[in-house]
Amino acid sequence: MSEKKYKWHQIAVSEAELAFAGNGVAVVEVKGKKICIAKHQEEWYGFAFKCPHAGGIMADGYIDAVGNVVCPLHRYKFSLKNGRNTSGEGYYLKTYPVNISEEGIFLGIEESGLFGWL
Ligand code: FES
Repeated sequence: MSEKKYKWHQIAVSEAELAFAGNGVAVVEVKGKKICIAKHQEEWYGFAFKCPHAGGIMADGYIDAVGNVVCPLHRYKFSLKNGRNTSGEGYYLKTYPVNISEEGIFLGIEESGLFGWL
């Protein structure tokens, strides 16, 4: 099994810098691409801005009590931890690791994905 290698991009210096909406989701931009950030039970998660089903704006959805992000369009649910479609429709939401350090808040993007990314 190959281990995933991440390139870490700073998205904020501190939590206060992130503009969380009322649903607990903040949107950041990394290399011109929008990515959602959410905090659930003291853990941080990054995930795709758009739903893999039909492009619903995940930033306008909500986080449920057990740690799924729910799409606002057709209410499919995805685990914040791994992007698994927990409501069972067979889609997969891209997720990104978030790392907090003294220098700030960082989002990890897989290096192998950089070609598609840029
Ligand atoms: S677009 Fe997200 S569930 Fe359909």
